[in-house]
Amino acid sequence: MLTLSVFVVLMASASVTSQTTVKDVDQKLVEELEARLTQLHDRMAKLSRYTMMQQFSAEERIRMEGDSGVNIIREDRTGMYNYYTTGHVGNSMVAIHDHSDTDRTIGQGELVAVMNGVSFSTQHNDYRLVMASTNSTDYHAVEDIPFPEVPKEVTDKLTVPDQITEMKQWFKAFSDQDYSVRDYRKYFKPVLCYLEGTWTLTDSFDQRFEPEANSWEELTNKVRYSAYTGTKFQSEKLAHLPTTMMSMNSTTGEPQYARWNYRTLCSPLKEDVALGDLRPVDELSYRVATGNSRVFISNDRRGRFVFFEKGVKSWSPIYTKFDRLFHTVPGMNNGPADLNQGSSHGNKVFSVANETDVLLNTGFYHRMFKAEKRGAMGLRRTFRGFNDPTLWVAETTQEEVAPMPLTSCKKVRVRIPNHRHRHVVKVCETEYSRFSYAFPLEILYMTPLLSWNPYNISVHEEGGVDPAAGARSGSLSNKAEAYDGVNNKHYYLTPAQFFSGTSDPADPMDSGTGSVGVLDQSGDLKVTAGSGTRVILPDIQGVGKVRLRYPIAPIHGEGNTAYKELNALKTKLWRENGLNYQ
Ligand SMILES: *[C@@H]1O[C@H](CO)[C@@H](O)[C@H](O)[C@H]1NC(C)=O
Ligand SMILES: *[C@@H]1O[C@H](CO)[C@@H](O)[C@H](O)[C@H]1NC(C)=O
Ligand SMILES: *[C@@H]1O[C@H](CO)[C@@H](O)[C@H](O)[C@H]1NC(C)=O
Ligand SMILES: *[C@@H]1O[C@H](CO)[C@@H](O)[C@H](O)[C@H]1NC(C)=O
Repeated sequence: MLTLSVFVVLMASASVTSQTTVKDVDQKLVEELEARLTQLHDRMAKLSRYTMMQQFSAEERIRMEGDSGVNIIREDRTGMYNYYTTGHVGNSMVAIHDHSDTDRTIGQGELVAVMNGVSFSTQHNDYRLVMASTNSTDYHAVEDIPFPEVPKEVTDKLTVPDQITEMKQWFKAFSDQDYSVRDYRKYFKPVLCYLEGTWTLTDSFDQRFEPEANSWEELTNKVRYSAYTGTKFQSEKLAHLPTTMMSMNSTTGEPQYARWNYRTLCSPLKEDVALGDLRPVDELSYRVATGNSRVFISNDRRGRFVFFEKGVKSWSPIYTKFDRLFHTVPGMNNGPADLNQGSSHGNKVFSVANETDVLLNTGFYHRMFKAEKRGAMGLRRTFRGFNDPTLWVAETTQEEVAPMPLTSCKKVRVRIPNHRHRHVVKVCETEYSRFSYAFPLEILYMTPLLSWNPYNISVHEEGGVDPAAGARSGSLSNKAEAYDGVNNKHYYLTPAQFFSGTSDPADPMDSGTGSVGVLDQSGDLKVTAGSGTRVILPDIQGVGKVRLRYPIAPIHGEGNTAYKELNALKTKLWRENGLNYQ
């Protein structure tokens, strides 16, 4: 279209006089056309580059305004002062909630996040207890995280009441963090769940994403409509995923576009994380608005935690336990990842964990590295990002991830045969890097409840017997309406008597809060409760409430200099009031 219109303009402007021959005119036209096309090509390339730099400037601005982390969640309250309104805390911290009627679904609502300067919004997340494949490098290959076993001391008991009594002791040991008699650490396993994002070249959505749209265009249109009108699609299955111009082909000037894509994954930790490592953050805006105490909020869904490490109060490039834990999480090459990014100009990248120079496996998430050579400031320890302590990166070779080119040129002297002097020629090389980013969302503990089945209820495979077939709705008294066994979506194995209290103050987003009736293999009705992961378990007699999910998500605003002063002020006020919170 563009070429054609130029041609028409040229036809009109090339004045044809009677003296010139047709051939001359043709030649002149062709030359002029070529010149105009070159000019146009050049302008298009410059304009494309300008667009790319505009996007980069926008990203840089966000990148410098705060850290990678959660920004806000959907507003669900308001009030006279701004701290009455929702920030990252609403009904719960970053919209976490329960789906304990499922085996592996971890409830989490919509959120807006920033990751390495890219601001995006997620759909209603509800992610699953799955990890990056341990043995396949296929794009997005995942596998189920194995559930912990049930202690033999529990299954050895002959009656269900005796099993319940014994199981309570294990929860007490976990809650008290006392492994002297019952070593709960073998059965209560910490899992790190994280948000991962990157620029991709694919046109397809992640399978589990299933947005309320059939194409990217439809998705973007719906998101724009929603933003423009201020309305909401009730499915909450929309996400704002920006598009960017990643690079331009230097020969053709053709831009390469990329789309932002994210997912939430979990990774089982190989070391125990003591509950004392997770210290509550004082969320004053919520506390002041509701008049709740610090203790209240940390035993509530609104609690947020930081990974505390003794002796690491000041922020220097110290390799912490959390760095060690996160470096067990693979990037997008999955478990087999074994990469070592040669940072620019072939300099090697070493691990900060070792005193000696040990190559860093950049295929796993990390936030610092040791450079081969000292930088201009004389330092070898270097953070990823300019100033973003919560930015974790991992290298990948997945073709679906948009590559970032880096061209470096050097002048080389070459001898030309039969010439006395050497000639200087410029030799350019282009290398391509691919990276993904992540920040932690939470540490949750898997417990033996995930597989404990004292009534020996049949667990049907997906696609097998439907426990809720017909009128079956989990009736507590009518066998014809009780669930016929369980499956992953009706995952009720825990004897209801195990809990003495009711569920945590329910969130409208929750599912699986109450007890249900399930038929066992002999057709007897048993009253059971959801066995999936909950933020906080209902009361267990003699134990109390046990928290299983510890949100540790960084908050975008915390990277802002004003928020840093504010947090310092909070600590100063505590200290002046004789409180010494860590
Ligand atoms: C990879 O691991 C999964 C899960 O442990 C297993 O089912 C599968 O057979 C393994 N594949 C290969 C090629 O080793
Ligand atoms: C640029 O385009 C040319 C012509 O289509 C192609 O041969 C070349 O591989 C492209 N370069 C890159 C880096 O994609
Ligand atoms: C480097 O440090 C890590 C973490 O402490 C350790 O597992 C690894 O064995 C060390 N490597 C060498 C070669 O010392
Ligand atoms: C549970 O049921 C299965 C299948 O019917 C049976 O093989 C197994 O022995 C039962 N386990 C117990 C502890 O009763």
